[in-house]
Amino acid sequence: MKIVTDIQELRDQLRGQNRASFVPTMGNLHEGHLSLMRIARQHGDPVIASIFVNRLQFGPHEDFDQYPRTLEADAEKLEKEGVYVLFAPTEKVLYPEPQEYRVDPPKQLGDILEGEFRPGFFKGVCTVVLKLFSCVQPRVAIFGKKDYQQLMIIRQMAHQFALPVEIVAGETIRADDGLALSSRNAYLNDTERAEAPHLQASLQQLRLDVLDAIHRAGQPLDESLRELEKKTADTLTQRGWQPDYIAIRKRTDLLAPSNDDLLAKKELVILAAAKLGKTRLIDNLEI
Ligand code: PAF
Repeated sequence: MKIVTDIQELRDQLRGQNRASFVPTMGNLHEGHLSLMRIARQHGDPVIASIFVNRLQFGPHEDFDQYPRTLEADAEKLEKEGVYVLFAPTEKVLYPEPQEYRVDPPKQLGDILEGEFRPGFFKGVCTVVLKLFSCVQPRVAIFGKKDYQQLMIIRQMAHQFALPVEIVAGETIRADDGLALSSRNAYLNDTERAEAPHLQASLQQLRLDVLDAIHRAGQPLDESLRELEKKTADTLTQRGWQPDYIAIRKRTDLLAPSNDDLLAKKELVILAAAKLGKTRLIDNLEI
């Protein structure tokens, strides 16, 4: 595997490749990322990975400085997965001057849920992903469903800019106890780690409650769902979590379903973000 830090060198290395599949990451790779590399291998050849901790998507009080940087260990893992090129640019290479042109996703998708609690996050994500796409020029790019809203926003960006790249989704990989793998799990202490799977467990319970409410279809369904979201958030709070949101949304646009949407059996997804101690975890569950 070749590790490339320079854009021109990357282009030289990839010249003539028109079936490349690409997995952008911020490093500190775990089994979740490696599963995306395997999906990438099924969709194209060669597989290109990138590691870049993107300052533009971190808020001023977020963990940009603490974000784990483990390039050597990451490179070993990628080599074993048969990755052809690891693109690992420095900030000077990717942002040699202030990045004044940015991609601003539409407010109705970019400023809700994660976007509400992390203002500017998706603007930073879209900007770096567009720039990475322009460097790598992949035919396919893989994003995990763990970051459900991110996947959706990038898919829409690729569609609206007519980017010649197909966006493929990878399923969330979980520890045996159900906790979704994430680089930020490393911030949890032992007690928090033992509690952390409860986020997914509470989404599983909420899913059952939603299906039951839809089955019974008593009071206006959208109201029942709001009550169920609140009940889940309250239970998490009682267990010591600080929920940012527990939201049952339509999969197509991540907006809250109306009563008619529910009666028409529109596909749903539950999205959640909650803090445990100082660590903010996100997870989701399709219904
Ligand atoms: O999901 C991530 O790791 C990042 O948001 C991404 C897509 C690599 C952009 O920095």
